[in-house]
Amino acid sequence: MCGIVGYVGGEDCASFLIAGLKRLEYRGYDSAGVALVGPQGLGVLRSRGKLVNLETLVVKERPQGALGIGHTRWATHGRPSDENAHPHSYGGVAVVHNGIIENHLELKARLRDAGHAFTSETDTEIFAHLIADEVAKGLDLLAATKAALREVRGTYALAVVSAADPETLVAAKNASPLVVGYGQGENYLASDVPAILERTRDVVFLEEGEVVRLRRSGIEIFDARGQAVTRKPRRIDWTPVMAEKGGHKHFMHKEIHEQARALVDTIRGRASLEKGDVTLDGVSLDAEAAKALTRATIVACGTSYHAGVVGKQYIETLAKLPVEIDLASEFRYRDPLVLPNTLCVAISQSGETADTLAAMREAKGKGARTLAVCNVVGSAITREADDVLYTHAGPEIGVASTKAFTTQLAAMLLLAVKLGRLRGTLTSEAAREVLQALNAVPGLVDQALEREGAALEAARAYSSAKDVLFLGRGLQAPVALEGALKLKEISYIHAEGYAAGEMKHGPIALIDEDVPVVVIATRDPKQGGQDTYEKMLGNMEEVRARGGRIIAVVNDGDTHASAIADKVLPVPACSALVAPIVNVIPLQLFSYHVADHRGTDVDQPRNLAKSVTVE
Ligand code: AGP
Repeated sequence: MCGIVGYVGGEDCASFLIAGLKRLEYRGYDSAGVALVGPQGLGVLRSRGKLVNLETLVVKERPQGALGIGHTRWATHGRPSDENAHPHSYGGVAVVHNGIIENHLELKARLRDAGHAFTSETDTEIFAHLIADEVAKGLDLLAATKAALREVRGTYALAVVSAADPETLVAAKNASPLVVGYGQGENYLASDVPAILERTRDVVFLEEGEVVRLRRSGIEIFDARGQAVTRKPRRIDWTPVMAEKGGHKHFMHKEIHEQARALVDTIRGRASLEKGDVTLDGVSLDAEAAKALTRATIVACGTSYHAGVVGKQYIETLAKLPVEIDLASEFRYRDPLVLPNTLCVAISQSGETADTLAAMREAKGKGARTLAVCNVVGSAITREADDVLYTHAGPEIGVASTKAFTTQLAAMLLLAVKLGRLRGTLTSEAAREVLQALNAVPGLVDQALEREGAALEAARAYSSAKDVLFLGRGLQAPVALEGALKLKEISYIHAEGYAAGEMKHGPIALIDEDVPVVVIATRDPKQGGQDTYEKMLGNMEEVRARGGRIIAVVNDGDTHASAIADKVLPVPACSALVAPIVNVIPLQLFSYHVADHRGTDVDQPRNLAKSVTVE
């Protein structure tokens, strides 16, 4: 997720744009830029790296204009560079964009055929070309932007200025946040409130599909059908720190609630229901190479390792390829056997984890083909891997991984489908069924988030526990591991995750009335109980017989597990393959609320770092 700021008014706005971008610095970025429309027409300045680089450029070049847009970029398509930094401009039109254009390859090819030349690797540049073409036909900026949007599929928060219309800023929103701010003789635009908070507290958060025209004299909002809408500005009383967190108390809470959007960005444009297949730009493995694979080896640490344990099951089930999984920190120390035609999949949010990088290098050194599943474009792991599958979670600031985990699961499922199709182990029909289930996940995640009250209640009841056990079976066993890791890292409560079948082999000795046990007892609607559910009921009875307290993740409408549990965390039912993505949501919320109740430093827990760059 990148940052956007915009201004239309009566003063030169370069310094306002830079000040606004500075207030978005906390989100992380790799490049920044501004575009101003003034007496000399359109001027664009961009720079890779820290904002101070752009600021120095602005001081030197002194761009003029009372209309402008600014952007801090967090790369998704194209490495961090001056050329890939926003704004992108063409034919007197400049644009900044957050989000992902799904059909960018198709549109780029069409525009190239019509004689357009591109100067960046981004999907965003397409907007500048499409809109400039419409302006050249005589449309005003609003109509030209709307016409361009009709061509585009994907997610966007978009802001546009044109040399041909020095008094108008046009913006549009679809799945990426955008807010307009009301001033006196000037108006503002931003992706996040902090960017404009110093000038105004009267804002409107745009709704999906809305397009907006800002002028000095006022702001006009149009809904998805093009009808003008009137909405009363809301007065924001957030402090600057609250504003950075979008009104949430902690970044972790904000990021938990961003998961549906992050999943949409990860899945869209890759999963094709028509074809019953997956397109992964950045992965060049072809059918011949995929069929020749003898084994996959997954290496990762912490939460990413848990995503790998789920990913192993996805690949073995769908692509019929044997998969080994290793903690990256252990891989090198056992002189691993890397057979010919091994695919090493390194999973990492940051792409900078020293152990994961070293494990991937070890595998590569022994002849493996390497594929990185990563969130940070241009990070060390992505630079060294043969193929890269980005997770598109957006910057994750909270040390505890949440949206990075669920997008890793979605990415691993996409990879498994891709491998299955390439290896001929998955028919297009079967792939379509999996992809249908995956496409439904963002909506189901939102539904799970709506049930936050239950997690809050359970957290209040058990926040003084000293030890907590987490149990799950099959695909839910790694979710139990992840639930335990989340709780221990942010609340400092000792927590252990176990495959539920292991309970009788040791952990059962711990159970008494002071050790709450969190169980994942959801069921696959397709299997009607012939799944792990009944076995989980057995585990729950065993816990209860020893006086243990049970918190159960159950499906809406569940009766059996709910009757045994002391507290339930309900989630919507979904197919078994995607259930880990949905079932982890209440565990993230439970951990968050326990930690918040105990008053720990949720976003920066003691002793932990976001990227572990030492071995
Ligand atoms: C997760 O909540 C942790 N903070 C940690 O386990 C993390 O997943 C691990 O350090 C790996 O990081 P990476 O994904 O950036 O490689």
